[in-house]
Amino acid sequence: MTPTVVADPFVPAPYRVAQVRRETRDVATLELCPTAGERPAFQPGQFNMLYAFGVGEVAISMSGDPARMGSYVHTVRNVGAVSGVIAALREGAILGLRGPFGTAWPSQTAEGCDVVIVAGGLGLAPLRPAIYHVLARRERYGRIVILYGTRSPADILYHREIERWRRRLDVDISVTVDHADPSWHGNVGVVTKLIARSGFDPNSTIAMICGPEVMMRFTAMALNEAGVSSDRVYLSMERNMKCAIGLCGHCQFGPSFICKDGPVMRYDRIAEILAVREI
Ligand SMILES: Cc1cc2nc3c(=O)[nH]c(=O)nc-3n(C[C@H](O)[C@H](O)[C@H](O)COP(=O)(O)OP(=O)(O)OC[C@H]3O[C@@H](n4cnc5c(N)ncnc54)[C@H](O)[C@@H]3O)c2cc1C
Ligand code: FES
Repeated sequence: MTPTVVADPFVPAPYRVAQVRRETRDVATLELCPTAGERPAFQPGQFNMLYAFGVGEVAISMSGDPARMGSYVHTVRNVGAVSGVIAALREGAILGLRGPFGTAWPSQTAEGCDVVIVAGGLGLAPLRPAIYHVLARRERYGRIVILYGTRSPADILYHREIERWRRRLDVDISVTVDHADPSWHGNVGVVTKLIARSGFDPNSTIAMICGPEVMMRFTAMALNEAGVSSDRVYLSMERNMKCAIGLCGHCQFGPSFICKDGPVMRYDRIAEILAVREI
């Protein structure tokens, strides 16, 4: 009998940058193809560890369509040493990749329910695979509401795609910015303001939230106020990662490890810890 070869989760596989799209001043979306074989399947909400050779490794969420085999898509903001190198990569560059890791958005639990997706800034990236998933199975869900807030119009990701979703008659999508410029004629203000007028059924809603922690806290509370119970609200958490497989403790969040118990976590299970800012 041929022995089963189990891939070492610590060893990055080489991936080639097949395409780069500059989204904003400091954000790029990269399409990555394995240099050999197929990419492993992933579920919306999961992340990979991307390794810039000689610089370091960071956790980056999937932002592409899970049904599109052949490549992974990641959206990276340049905020530091590693993300800066990765966001500046050009077509043809090679980087290391481990994954996929982590928990998924509750796309199946949400079947038969209204789905409310609330994204802040770069938080739209980890939610985009869930949007692809529910739109590809549109008949299985009730209302689909997408609420997206960014600091300014220049920070809006995936412009063309948002326009495409907007043209659909079966999705309610609203975008808001904290600070408008003269070119902006849309909503101004924090994304939580959009919740009250979204018209979903709170008793039959599953909500998915991703963004800065303070935004997620206020969004979860606003959803509670709108009648959505905490056990129907899911958030994607971020902490510094090292091993990504539950061994090193770097990503500890109360009694949980974000790399294996998250990043997607149910609000009622973490609300108490999330209320403590520095944890
Ligand atoms: C599960 C998970 C998913 C993630 N998904 C993505 C993703 O899809 N795209 C992405 O760009 N990043 C994502 N991140 C964040 C990413 O892993 C890194 O933390 C980030 O890129 C900074 O790494 P760095 O080494 O370049 O910067 P560092 O040297 O660690 O930090 C430089 C500076 O930036 C600040 N900083 C660190 N992280 C962030 C942040 N996320 N936003 C703003 N400022 C920050 C630090 O406080 C520090 O001041 C994710 C993290 C986790 C845990
Ligand atoms: S990153 Fe090592 S335990 Fe989570």
